[in-house]
Amino acid sequence: MSQPGPASRSSGWWRLADALALAPVSGVVPAAVTVRTTDVLVIGTGIAGLTAALHCSRDRDVTVVTKGRLSQTNTWYAQGGIAGAVGEHDSIESHVADTLEVGQGLCDEAVVRAVAGEAPEALESLLGFGVRFDLAESGGVALAREGGHSLPRVLHSGDRTGAAIQQALTATLLERSRIPVLEHRFLAELLTRADGTCAGALVFDTVRGVYEVYLAGAVVLATGGAGGVFRVTTNPPEATGDGVAAAWRAGVEVADLEFVQFHPTALGHEAAPRFLVSEALRGEGAYLKDCDGRRFMVGVHPLAELAPRDVVSREIERVMKRCGSPHVWLDARHLGEAHLRARFPNIWAACSEAGYDLSRDLVPVAPAAHYFVGGVRCDVDGRSSMPGLYVSGEVAASGLHGANRLASNSLLEGLVFSRRIARALDADGIGVAPDADSSMLSKVFMASSGSSASGIVESITLDELHDLAAAGLGMTRTARGLAGVEARLGEFTHVAVSCSKADAAGEVKRRELVNLACVAGLVARAAAMRTESRGCHSRLDFPSRDDSRWRGHLVFTYGRETRFVAVTGEED
Ligand code: SIN
Repeated sequence: MSQPGPASRSSGWWRLADALALAPVSGVVPAAVTVRTTDVLVIGTGIAGLTAALHCSRDRDVTVVTKGRLSQTNTWYAQGGIAGAVGEHDSIESHVADTLEVGQGLCDEAVVRAVAGEAPEALESLLGFGVRFDLAESGGVALAREGGHSLPRVLHSGDRTGAAIQQALTATLLERSRIPVLEHRFLAELLTRADGTCAGALVFDTVRGVYEVYLAGAVVLATGGAGGVFRVTTNPPEATGDGVAAAWRAGVEVADLEFVQFHPTALGHEAAPRFLVSEALRGEGAYLKDCDGRRFMVGVHPLAELAPRDVVSREIERVMKRCGSPHVWLDARHLGEAHLRARFPNIWAACSEAGYDLSRDLVPVAPAAHYFVGGVRCDVDGRSSMPGLYVSGEVAASGLHGANRLASNSLLEGLVFSRRIARALDADGIGVAPDADSSMLSKVFMASSGSSASGIVESITLDELHDLAAAGLGMTRTARGLAGVEARLGEFTHVAVSCSKADAAGEVKRRELVNLACVAGLVARAAAMRTESRGCHSRLDFPSRDDSRWRGHLVFTYGRETRFVAVTGEED
């Protein structure tokens, strides 16, 4: 399968011109562009970005940019916790085994071993950065159980673990380092040298409404996921797939995009994002019940309510259909008010606000888009296919999660990969700011304004995109539904947005919409090609797992043939 290639891939030292040449130019390119240089540019400020910044800055000059405010990240919303084999009865081998089991034959075992193996040390380093995890009565760290784990393995700070980590890392960054952190900077495009290496990024200052160029020896992409493809998602509005889309447009390999994880238990209300009712609550013993008050997960899977997420979410979908209801019920009444209030203060408060008393009421819950397993393909040290570009966290397709992510392995992935990236920069001998010929760069930037225009960007609304995603890309897919999405969104996979002097908010919305449409188009393409059901990719028309054909990864590169890379590393 091939896609149209970029118009002029080698027209000069900077690929910026190429990126813009793809774009329908409806506005005016800014007259002057600020050019900054840095050894390492980190894009994103969740656990992956902050960890990368702190570790890379030990011997390099680092600059951090983030799309919104520093704390507007998916990490902030993570409730349950962060996994690691630190318990007395646990072992790295058991963490590896659970991750592989949930990943349904698509995990890269070497990556799983590297991440699970480094977890205890990486978690220890978080303590050094001031993160405080809850303690058990024995004085040791308290461990929770979540879906797919064979024993309690999840460290937590109440039910706001992500926020606790974010706050501690942010405080360390701001108080103990001199790293410049530039908020309200939107990644527009990655910049590439003629030799194919990453040169930095074109960034839009969303407050001043101007573009800036960051030249960097290395770029660490930590921009998070793309939950915004879906109307019903647990992700904050910032999750618009900007990193994956920019990397794709720059010719970087992306993979595993068909695997979108739906969290089984988002609160059944109309808020956006949907409030997550953490799996940790089921880990403490809460039940899932159907419209007849029956525990429907018993008998479906040996772990019942703590089965892997894909199993629970799909069963909930089936029960909702059978009951003709937009939700099922979560029953935590038997856990008692005192315990619920103490262990889950955030969930208690959100449920109360929505009108539910967790200790007396059944709470309506339903699946919501939660996590993109796929993204920018990387090796075990976060290296993407583009030299100088590293990826960490949800933006990455690292091979850790396979076809389905084990609960609470995502914060761990960002933490471990960012530490590994800092080491990889040393090994790779890159990461020193290039000399900037800013006048030349500005000229290239200015010269690119003559590109041809088209109306593609203006041709879709977010509502239409959400309708398409709901119809075609949800928890159960069909060839017909996927073809509809592909037909409508396929062209967005080769569109970039021109730089305009439009109002800043409008410029961001335009770019976000194109990025979402690009990612949704890639999800549709991958999901249509994968004619089987595995992990969180489920096809009504191909309901079985087919290891003989599909035990591997679909790898897409802009302008090139799609590749199928078997888990063994062999290519078809
Ligand atoms: C949860 O708390 O249920 C979410 C944790 C995760 O997504 O890993």
